[in-house]
Amino acid sequence: MEVLEAIQTRRSVRKYEKREINDEIVKKLLSAAMSAPSAANQQPWEFIVIKDRDMLDAIPAFSPFAKMAAHATLGILICGDTRNLIAPGFWVQDCSAATQNILIAAHALGLGAVWTGVYPMDLMDGRVTGFVKHCQLPEGVVPLAFVVLGYPAETPSKQNRFNPYKIHANVW
Ligand SMILES: Cc1cc2nc3c(=O)[nH]c(=O)nc-3n(C[C@H](O)[C@H](O)[C@H](O)COP(=O)(O)O)c2cc1C
Repeated sequence: MEVLEAIQTRRSVRKYEKREINDEIVKKLLSAAMSAPSAANQQPWEFIVIKDRDMLDAIPAFSPFAKMAAHATLGILICGDTRNLIAPGFWVQDCSAATQNILIAAHALGLGAVWTGVYPMDLMDGRVTGFVKHCQLPEGVVPLAFVVLGYPAETPSKQNRFNPYKIHANVW
């Protein structure tokens, strides 16, 4: 799939077939993630690949907007390693760029995926702490986003969100 087509036709997919995603495809997704730009090229990302059925099933209990994990065969937790950062304020942007690359690559490879928010939701409902405990993350490694993936069992239609009123020439 051509890159602009992939960007413009990607939608969140929350229903999946039971079919598993093979390791070669998972590697392609992670390679796309690690191709993202990052501040000072610090690459603070770490990825927890979750395929274990019991682990996926348990996630909605502490991440209520990730209920689709219980019906998926794969989830990827994108974390920022905040220990020893070169550009400390930028780890969220760095890991977000990696997350978006996973979504685009998944779509281009014929998969469906959805970004479920983790950081900074801890104060509201304990999502960060939930993933820290669930995936045994060391101190200083912060879960940013949990992407749920599968072969799509729904096809949300393309949306045109181009809005010329969002664009300002030189000044507001
Ligand atoms: C930071 C962030 C957090 C999100 N969290 C969730 C979530 O917890 N659960 C969910 O189902 N979708 C979540 N989404 C997906 C959005 O709902 C979705 O991207 C948006 O409605 C636009 O739809 P589209 O992805 O189909 O273009 C999140 C997206 C972003 C960027």
